This record gives sequence, C-alpha cells and structure tokens, in this order.
Amino acid sequence: MPVKLEHVLKRVETLPILPTSATRVMNLTKNSDTDVNALADLIGQDPALAASILRQANSAFYGYARRIASLAEAVVLLGFQTIHSLTLSAAVAPMLKTELTGYSLDQEGLWKHSLLVGLISRKLCRRLRLPIGETAFTAGLLHDIGKLILSIYVQEVGGYLLKKIEQQKLSYVEMEQKVIGFDHATVGGFIIKHWNLPEPLVDTITHHHYPEKSLVEPVLAAVIHVANVLANILGVGGGIDSFLNPLRPESLALLKLKEEDIDLLLADLGDLMSDPNIFD
Ligand SMILES: [Fe+2]
Ligand SMILES: [Fe+2]
Repeated sequence: MPVKLEHVLKRVETLPILPTSATRVMNLTKNSDTDVNALADLIGQDPALAASILRQANSAFYGYARRIASLAEAVVLLGFQTIHSLTLSAAVAPMLKTELTGYSLDQEGLWKHSLLVGLISRKLCRRLRLPIGETAFTAGLLHDIGKLILSIYVQEVGGYLLKKIEQQKLSYVEMEQKVIGFDHATVGGFIIKHWNLPEPLVDTITHHHYPEKSLVEPVLAAVIHVANVLANILGVGGGIDSFLNPLRPESLALLKLKEEDIDLLLADLGDLMSDPNIFD
C-alpha cells in the first residue's frame, strides 16, 4: 500500500539541518570579496570542519604533489567553490554514515558511494570541459540522500519489490514508485529543497536515474547518472539497487561519451581508488 506524501514530508522534516558553522562558511564562499584569511579563520573555529577540509584537500583526487598544511593555503589553492563543496561534504558525512538495512548498506556504504559519485562527477566534468565541476561534486555527493528516508519503507517490502522487478522487468526506481508511492530520487529532491539548497541541485537529484526527464539541468543530471553507474561498476555501490537501475543511453549521447572514454575513465579511477584514504 503506497505511503502518503504527508508521511514522507514529515520524515524529511525530522532530518537534522545543516550545522550553523558549515552554513556560515558556505555563505562566505559565495561572496568573491571575502578575505581569504577571514574565511580560513571561520573554518578554523570548527576544528572538525577544519580537519575534514584539510584531509579532503590532501586526498589523491586533488592531485597536489605537495602537502596542503594550512587552511589559508587550502583556500588559495582550491578556491572558494571547492571550499564550499568540501564544507558541505563535511556537514553531510555524519548523516550519510548510517546503516540502511532496506538497501543492504552497512554503516559506511552510503557515504563511500556518495563521495565517490561526487568525485567521479567532478572528474567527468573536467574531462568533458564542463565548467560545473563543483556543482556536480555536490550533486553527486547528495544524489542518493533520499535513501535515508526511503530505506525504512524498502525494508518493509524488500523481498516483494525484488520479486516484482523480476516479473515485470521494471527498474528498481520504477518499482519503488509503484509499490511505495515514491522513489528515493524524488524524496532526495524533497530533502534538498527542505535544506534550501539551489534549484539545479533539487532537479538533478530528483532525476538522477532518468536524467532525460530533467528540464532544468539535463547535462548535470546526465553527469551524475553516468558517475553513479561508474561507481557501481567500480564496486562501490549504492546498495541492493546498484545494478537494477540501468544506464540510460540518452545520457551517453547527451554528453557525447563513447565507450573508449568510459574505459579510460575507469582505468584512471582505478588508480585513484588505490589511495587507502579517499573515503576518510
Ligand atoms: Fe539512486
Ligand atoms: Fe547511487
């Protein structure tokens, strides 16, 4: 029996809001007149945030040969937009690090998958010369956040859902809609809206499994969609549905991605994945 919209929205409202320190840092990064040292000082007032930004900045994904030792240096080298997305990443990490039985995800499962999709999305933008790398990182990081809410419902109907998928040849997302009444992508969009994050993020997250339905940001949605599939191929999946939500050929066409591009990307990512600290 499908659940009611009010029921889902009530659950969305019970999710924690983003920490004030992170919101203040993110607001400062939006103003290009902000002083580098003022921004570094504000980050430094939240030791956990500061440590997380430095750790992320020094991960192999940024490729700096030299260690970034101070916050001011991180701000200068990475730029305001990247500091913005690393701050959001630090803020949502504790929420994403949670066991989701419905999706067969252990405590680190959703976090690792989300971070990797964010990192791949940014990389994909660089390769395709799309100037939306940081938005793509953020969208990738948050794409499956709806699972935090939907997992409980999936848990109730899990076996039935899987059986139906086999019988009716539908995707996992289509089955979530049919059986539960909502899919995790739509519910993810509700959460992003509830957090007052920008509309392109709401749209992209809502459509990450069917990016051709996006009317606002079809290219961004396609990037996240492809990155999600690549993360699953790399074995860092988003749970039980990892291989039950197929790759949309429309996305490859929109991004003009060929099979050899995908192979090169996977090889590249394989190297980076050998860094044991990327999911810290
Ligand atoms: Fe998803
Ligand atoms: Fe995913």
